[in-house]
Amino acid sequence: MGRQKPAGKNVPFDTSVPHIARVYDYWLGGKDNYEADRTAAEQVVATFPDVLVSVRAQRAFLGRAVHYLVAEAGIRQFLDIGTGLPAANNTHEVAQRIAPESRVVYVDNDPIVLLHAQALLTSSPEGETAYIDADIRDTGKILAAAADVLDFSQPVAVMLLGVLHCIPDEDDPAAIVARLTVAVPPGSYLVIAHPASDVTEQLSRSMGDYNKQGAAPLTARTHAEVNSFFAGLDLIEPGVVQLHRWRPGTGDVGQGRELPNYGGVGRKP
Ligand SMILES: C[S@@+](CC[C@H](N)C(=O)[O-])C[C@H]1O[C@@H](n2cnc3c(N)ncnc32)[C@H](O)[C@@H]1O
Repeated sequence: MGRQKPAGKNVPFDTSVPHIARVYDYWLGGKDNYEADRTAAEQVVATFPDVLVSVRAQRAFLGRAVHYLVAEAGIRQFLDIGTGLPAANNTHEVAQRIAPESRVVYVDNDPIVLLHAQALLTSSPEGETAYIDADIRDTGKILAAAADVLDFSQPVAVMLLGVLHCIPDEDDPAAIVARLTVAVPPGSYLVIAHPASDVTEQLSRSMGDYNKQGAAPLTARTHAEVNSFFAGLDLIEPGVVQLHRWRPGTGDVGQGRELPNYGGVGRKP
């Protein structure tokens, strides 16, 4: 687990409440987190120990999905919203290893991700990466700014991994997804990773405890709810499944476990 010195007084954001980007960073073993994040993260680990496997399985799913999109589906443009702190195998690294000309726009609303965005902007010379500081609800701002780098007349993969559960039902996450998928042409893709409410009760209980700590609330969803985000798209085999079961390779994390985390990839017909 990462450890970092206490926040300095010049840190330009509130470190007294946990934030999902920094909590997730802690679970992944990163160093960009503060006391409140570590406390919240450890409380979840205490009630739901598999969270540590689940976050690693999510990163592995990201890698497999991007690999599929570039190597098999021919995608060269990515809009990755809810990017998170830079970790191993960020979207542009996986994509540009296969196709150096790939272009990736990252979007997040956490000031600490913004501070570290430089690490996401290490594009290959043939491709391009960019970072937009925005809330996923503000799809107009995101799409307008992303158009500086992405050509919306060509297919784009919209990546929403571990971000839709940060949007409560009253903010209509399905409408946000629909605004994004309407903006991309046929042949584009949607990738979602989303915590599951119907796999193990442990996750819902520990998420309930997390939500009591003043952080932006998280919402786990059922298989049917996650599936419905892909309305109007053709799901790529094997559909929406526990994400460690989405086209796993040998040695992929989570095999043999019941991880409460769904993943899927859909294609716009
Ligand atoms: C759990 S991390 C997932 C990181 C990465 N996508 C992955 O799968 O490894 C969720 C990220 O979504 C961001 N996020 C949460 N709510 C958001 C919002 N309303 N708009 C944009 N980003 C948001 C957080 O700041 C965080 O960096």
